[in-house]
Amino acid sequence: MTKLRKDFLWGGATAANQFEGAWNVDGKGDSVSDHCTGGSFTNPKRVTVDIEPETFYPSQDAIDFYHHYKEDIKLFAEMGFKCFRFSIAWTRIFPTGMEKEPNEKGLQFYDNVIDECLKYGIEPLITISHYEMPYALVEKYNGWYGRELIDYFMNYVKTIFDRYKGKVKYWLTFNEINAGTMTMGATLSLGTIKGYEGPMIRVPDEKAIRFQALHHQFVASALTVKYAHDNYPEYKIGNMICFLSSYPFTCNPDDVVANQKEMQIKNWFCSDVQCRGYYPSYMNRYFEENGIVIRKEEGDDEILKNGTVDFYTFSYYMTSCTSTDPNAKTVAGNITGGARNPYLEASDWGWQIDPKGLRWTLNEIWDRYQKPLMVVENGLGAKDVLEEDGSIHDSYRIDYLRKHIEQMEEAVADGVDLMGYTPWGCIDLVSASTGEMAKRYGMIYVSKYDDGTGDYSRKKKDSFFWYKKVIESNGEDLG
Ligand code: BG6
Repeated sequence: MTKLRKDFLWGGATAANQFEGAWNVDGKGDSVSDHCTGGSFTNPKRVTVDIEPETFYPSQDAIDFYHHYKEDIKLFAEMGFKCFRFSIAWTRIFPTGMEKEPNEKGLQFYDNVIDECLKYGIEPLITISHYEMPYALVEKYNGWYGRELIDYFMNYVKTIFDRYKGKVKYWLTFNEINAGTMTMGATLSLGTIKGYEGPMIRVPDEKAIRFQALHHQFVASALTVKYAHDNYPEYKIGNMICFLSSYPFTCNPDDVVANQKEMQIKNWFCSDVQCRGYYPSYMNRYFEENGIVIRKEEGDDEILKNGTVDFYTFSYYMTSCTSTDPNAKTVAGNITGGARNPYLEASDWGWQIDPKGLRWTLNEIWDRYQKPLMVVENGLGAKDVLEEDGSIHDSYRIDYLRKHIEQMEEAVADGVDLMGYTPWGCIDLVSASTGEMAKRYGMIYVSKYDDGTGDYSRKKKDSFFWYKKVIESNGEDLG
């Protein structure tokens, strides 16, 4: 069977707002995520305008990577990481997003993180915007709905591109940009609406607002690519899609067509704009039927055309089905669920586990764009048990990862050009959807709990030792 490339980028993935903590340290400003309370599967997290003194905001301290980065990167190196995906918190660099000059202490922190990675030969893969933005931009412009954000974002992008040149090669513009097509994801990725308080999943729920905000992100993403290509030809800029593969629930043509629409709106729309450089024609009908008119400025189409990404990255956790039967059983999922697939098992949070779907997805994306691909998130959110002797036996996680890696290897044998794999939350961190610590993904356990207690100590899970072997053997020893 065709093997993975010799320079395959094995590693792990994180995001600033879910693991750095230190939310108001060294000049950092408030991010949207700092205004999100804790929650659970059944009790959605809330957005609050003011920080309520008695309420727990899990991102504010998270797992305190800010003060543990040396220890954590050392552990990643011990596992043999070739690559580490993390994001920069915009608010560390520009606390309100609107300053002209950056916050030097914020820049220095990422100097340190990057240098620490390079010390161990770990390639940084940086997400420029991962589910957070300066809260001040929400108050002033309603998040990405305001076109003004493009200029502020570009100021941030130019600052970090110029600062980290010669050290960082791989960059991703917006994490899961297609989250903006769905109500729940929109709050995370587009920001909220000025003055809004309440459950995170409800804002911004107006399609017209969401798709306009997305347009601004597309333009910002394309300008980022152009700036990199013009100034730093060694940079490779990728997109990042929350890939929500779905299958028609039955072979009834109604289900098949409905599923095609789902795939178009949820997955292909954003991918097509970022990879092909223009809005796909199937969106015209969708916009018309939903009363959406995208306000474009002169020159926007040209910007999109000149800013297509160099490589394609995506997250993959689960799949679902599309059914036209209103009585079909439904399931939860990453950002959104769908009809239940009777052939699949689900995680404790209801996400249906589908390793073979990853092979199918990789083939679909590769066939469509022929750009190098990378799976930059994948993993199992589960409740772990910390034994008295400090061990954590997470065989369920090993099983999940093993089966997905097997299918990645099948896809490579099918001819897919796959650059790397960075499973999500290589170290336990705060859940994006529920705000919980109990939903753990890591190979490294962190003593931090949903009531805010914990001493932040780190412990190696069984999956730590297993993943080390996988990397050492370049994916051949999955035992
Ligand atoms: C992805 C996000 O959707 O899924 C991450 O990019 C997120 O930020 C991950 O943490 C897992 O989702 P959750 O809700 O289980 O944390």
